[in-house]
Amino acid sequence: MTSNIWKKKPLHQLLAEADDTEKGLKKTLSATSLVALGIGAIIGAGLFSLTGIAAAENAGPAVVFSFILASIGCAFAGLCYAEFASMIPVAGSAYTYSYATMGEFVAWIIGWDLVLEYALGAATVAASWSQYVSKFLGQLGVDLPVSMLHGPWDKVTDAAGVVSQPGIVNLPAIIIICLLSLLLIRGTKESALLNNILVILKVTVVLVFIALGWGFINTANHTPFIPVNEGEEMWRSGKMSFLEFFGSDFFGHYGWSGILRGAGVVFFAFIGFDAVSTAAQEAKDPQKSMPIGILGSLVICTVLYVLFAFVLTGLENYLAFKGDASPVTSAFAKTGYTFLNSALTIAIIAGYTSVMLVMLMGQSRVFYSMSTDGLLPKIFSDLHVKNRTPYKTNLMFMVFVSIFAGFVPVSDLGHMVSIGTLFAFSLVCIGVIVMRKSNPDAVRGFRVPLVPFVPILGVLICVLLMAGLPIESWERLGIWLALGLAIYFLYGMKNSKLNNEK
Ligand code: ALA
Repeated sequence: MTSNIWKKKPLHQLLAEADDTEKGLKKTLSATSLVALGIGAIIGAGLFSLTGIAAAENAGPAVVFSFILASIGCAFAGLCYAEFASMIPVAGSAYTYSYATMGEFVAWIIGWDLVLEYALGAATVAASWSQYVSKFLGQLGVDLPVSMLHGPWDKVTDAAGVVSQPGIVNLPAIIIICLLSLLLIRGTKESALLNNILVILKVTVVLVFIALGWGFINTANHTPFIPVNEGEEMWRSGKMSFLEFFGSDFFGHYGWSGILRGAGVVFFAFIGFDAVSTAAQEAKDPQKSMPIGILGSLVICTVLYVLFAFVLTGLENYLAFKGDASPVTSAFAKTGYTFLNSALTIAIIAGYTSVMLVMLMGQSRVFYSMSTDGLLPKIFSDLHVKNRTPYKTNLMFMVFVSIFAGFVPVSDLGHMVSIGTLFAFSLVCIGVIVMRKSNPDAVRGFRVPLVPFVPILGVLICVLLMAGLPIESWERLGIWLALGLAIYFLYGMKNSKLNNEK
């Protein structure tokens, strides 16, 4: 066996493949459409659901700082994505980039890891979507049974603050995943028009919430802005070593370590800007428009997020958001504009749809590419005769994502998505440094400034955010990657097309 697991897909081969699949794809997306595409994929459960949870469990009002920290990590990774997307405008993703820069083995790891970002990301959004749906139906007088809205491991707090575990399954989450997967199989392309409407709706919700909520901020809710972490105090005063503190339950619950862990959690809210890179083949003048699309959507979201988090935690005490996956409606009730509640809820529900669609589609595209490269069985790239969609992959992920959406708590899902994506981002940052060495003369429409410092800072911040996440997320990441390695060595390595080329 002469497999070379480090073999790289040559850049010219990738670009030729791109040319090949490019036939029929129109270059219609302007920089503005790309920014809209990015915002469509970015604003979702992270903002409307995890902000409250991260404030309640980790950072308090200082979740504002968590957003800033997470955005810095994303900005560095975003620059690296922008360089790749302007250089290899292929409908790929981190998987494709790493195949060209770091070879097949790393590409496999990224592709496998992206399941955490896309498939579990869709599950997280679906699980939180169902909480807003139930609130909306509640406003109409229809109460869904709590046991059908939560999985068995969800911690649900009732009005009296009693924690119970009454769930059986998150049924609406499963239903929306099935519907959207079937829609994807039919090949319904998310039209730019629909996406633009959803983006306008989402941004309007955020702006309305900020503008109307601002006047009702109760400064008492913001005091102290960074809630005290007793463990941190003990460590500072020498009563505990750092390692003891790091390993204790204190770490990540308020104080600075809480801001850090909160950043790892709300990092989820930024995921999706990388999806802009998957549209590279359809972009006009991708060398210029891709960086604008990626970085522009990031900047706009960061500003909105920081203001939103500030208002949310100002309207209501952060502790009230414990276990509440739909904090916007609860907090907005503090304003005098409760008649807008239903409109806000509908807009949020609609806005989640585009995020789930992009993620489910991204997932099938990655497995499709891995399968056409021979790393996964052919079934993952079988196309529907009429619709030309990878329907078998869509169906398999429909089941896989449904199981997670239906039974796993939102915050556990969110942590898994964050750690998986941060890992992928780190590898993309490293990829930029490698590519500058291996293909120094390739045409780059956009260049990351100050290489290697910026990519290295990107890796460091991603790893720092990962370090803030609970140890169980690391264990689960480890188990997932170990499973992936087993599949690669038993199947992918032997069937890789690149490795078997004469
Ligand atoms: N950023 C996306 C969201 O928050 C994944 O829903």
